[in-house]
Amino acid sequence: MAKRVLVSGGAGYIGSHVTVELIAAGYDVVVADNMSNCDMTCFEGVRKITGRDDIPFEQIDCCDAAAVEKLFTDYQIDAVIHFAAFKAVGESVAKPIMYYRNNLVSFLNILESAGRHGGCNVLFSSSATVYGEAEDLPVTEKTPRLPATSPYGNTKQMCEDILRDVVAATASSQGVIKGIALRYFNPIGAHPSALIGELPRGVPNNLVPFITQTAIGKRECLSIFGNDYPTEDGTCLRDYIDIVDLAKAHVAAVSRMLDGKMKEGYEIFNIGTGRPVSVYELVTAFEKVNGLKLNYRFVDRRPGDVMAIWADTSLANEELGWKAERTVEETLASAWAWEKHLAGK
Ligand code: UD1
Repeated sequence: MAKRVLVSGGAGYIGSHVTVELIAAGYDVVVADNMSNCDMTCFEGVRKITGRDDIPFEQIDCCDAAAVEKLFTDYQIDAVIHFAAFKAVGESVAKPIMYYRNNLVSFLNILESAGRHGGCNVLFSSSATVYGEAEDLPVTEKTPRLPATSPYGNTKQMCEDILRDVVAATASSQGVIKGIALRYFNPIGAHPSALIGELPRGVPNNLVPFITQTAIGKRECLSIFGNDYPTEDGTCLRDYIDIVDLAKAHVAAVSRMLDGKMKEGYEIFNIGTGRPVSVYELVTAFEKVNGLKLNYRFVDRRPGDVMAIWADTSLANEELGWKAERTVEETLASAWAWEKHLAGK
């Protein structure tokens, strides 16, 4: 029988792409989402791409311990991929209690039910934000984490630590929990079908949705935050990882857990391309690959931004047998195809 993966937050941007790849790899999935930050667009897209109308979908809030417990009672769950969390950095600064409560309680509930039901493999969706403004680049998994600069970033660090501690505590118990944290760099792009992609509510905070919304005419002008950084063209450097490549990393990590290939009970992997790209380069590449001109201007730096961060991905390459494959051009073309799909063009 196929192993079953619970994807919490599975109707969102990353969760929907991961669901598609899990199904393609032969896993059974159950998607749980409270729909607090998305509608059914992506889940419908997942159904179309996979040709599967029967993917179980549970509209629950993972902060509801009884609802999570019922999920583990109703389904035999072999692994969990936990995405259900709030993710806006600025909002987290304004509403720390909301962020701590939501992001920590939902994860604690998952871990508690997983333990109660005989143990589980748990993949936590972490972020490169845990490295802060690292001195040595690229960062490896051994690069020390720096104090978080936002409650959002702090919840990522705290959930990593919670998972590590729970793994250690359950190692010799009945309900063994094994865990992997994937630290994503900057996920961008959309599925090649253009049926699923990023769907930000309101004004996008992240670069690529802002670019595509400017190109389609929803936003007047893209502000590039800072061109006076000590980088080649003065703009920030990031490691932009294609969403489908990122989704495949989850399949590799889940398989590693389910196939008993982990070397330790708790492991961490950087998921990026290993290549730094500047904001200006990304904007120019978007214009070139899609044959259009973007309205942009340089403005002051955005408070809280780090100048440069990119990944050393050797550990994921070697241990997960995974590597980013799509070029940044392909990814930017997919992002634009998705924006046009949303606009009905
Ligand atoms: C941010 C978060 C990170 C989170 C990630 C995904 C911070 C410090 N980091 O990463 O924790 O995991 O989003 O949600 O907030 N930019 C512009 N104009 C824009 C938008 C962005 O120039 O309109 C620039 C930024 O200054 C940055 C780059 O584009 O240099 C990428 O920004 P963004 O997409 O917001 O991601 P990060 O800030 O790297």
